[in-house]
Amino acid sequence: MTHYKIGIFAGDGIGPEIMREGCRVLSLVGERNGIQFEQIEAPFGASAYFSHGDPFPEEAKALCDTVDAILKGPIGLSHAESQKIPVDMQPERGALLPMRRRLNTYANFRPVYLPKSLAHFSPLKPEVIGDGIDIVMVRELVGGLYFGKKETGTNAQGKRYVNEVLEYDEDQIRNILVEAFKISQRRKKVLHNIHKSNVLKSSVLWNEIVDEVKDDYPDVEVVHLLVDAAATALCLNPGQFDVMVMENMFGDILSDQGGGILGSLGLMPSACIGPERAYYEPSHGSAPDIAGQNIANPYSMIGSVAMMLEYSFDMRTEAQNIMRALQAVFDDGYSTADLSRQGSSVKMIATNEFGDKVLEKLAAMQVS
Ligand code: IPM
Ligand code: MG
Repeated sequence: MTHYKIGIFAGDGIGPEIMREGCRVLSLVGERNGIQFEQIEAPFGASAYFSHGDPFPEEAKALCDTVDAILKGPIGLSHAESQKIPVDMQPERGALLPMRRRLNTYANFRPVYLPKSLAHFSPLKPEVIGDGIDIVMVRELVGGLYFGKKETGTNAQGKRYVNEVLEYDEDQIRNILVEAFKISQRRKKVLHNIHKSNVLKSSVLWNEIVDEVKDDYPDVEVVHLLVDAAATALCLNPGQFDVMVMENMFGDILSDQGGGILGSLGLMPSACIGPERAYYEPSHGSAPDIAGQNIANPYSMIGSVAMMLEYSFDMRTEAQNIMRALQAVFDDGYSTADLSRQGSSVKMIATNEFGDKVLEKLAAMQVS
């Protein structure tokens, strides 16, 4: 029997609740396909800081180096709770970024996907949504401002100052662009290159490399767009986009806007891929305000399982089945309280009940 080891980092806030549903879906896929997905949990995030004194404990690091893929829940605390943790031990700086660096997951794929069945969640008008939204944002994930040198201090004039460096070398840029061109080639062959070359030198180099790499993908049309204009265009005409590629910080911001046009970040799974290792996570935070209430929709976590099946294990049909199962549950009129208001026409169910329904739908679908 094929046997894969999957690291399970449930994370903080709603993480454990939605992870539970993701794990059930993964187990069902295993059973259906005669594959053992061994799920090995490790503490990670703010919860790990409080239980182990370290948001990224040794056992989580060891798993990173040995498993076939990692499923990770959201991490983080409310602003007030975060203040109880030393700055460098806060889970974003102390766990998530070190994990991205350790795994070298430079390519982050964030689908902004709104099929007709989910269109009612979007704040956009039906005429703007058209036939639905189907974008993949490709974000560089281990470079740029996030990982550049940082310095704080007091300058000669006695003023406190900060200096954070945005650094990329040409290989880092080329690597992420190649990923974007490749996925573009498998889709509509229109690649929007998002940059800010009217101000940033980093974007000037980025665009030079775009011009070099595009020669290898002559069938892909490249459209250059400034990042600020891209933010507007996402609201006004999201249908023009298929694949968008950008550096780390732009990708952080625009992908949240992607969640905004869907109606919720809860509809945003993601894949973080490196040359040797990969992990999968919702694009959103840990929603501490609704944690423990069994009302968080598990879509982003279950969608991340689908992305894992596709990217790490080449199980495309099962990945598609999972996405279809998720949509079918919404189509049947069900939703969770985080996504939908009481009193609307939806039948409100809990996180685990939503998971039950996805499992039912999936079980009824043909195995790949
Ligand atoms: C994301 C998140 C992270 C990021 C945070 C939690 C550090 O916002 O994955 O988009 O900024 O990359
Ligand atoms: Mg973000």
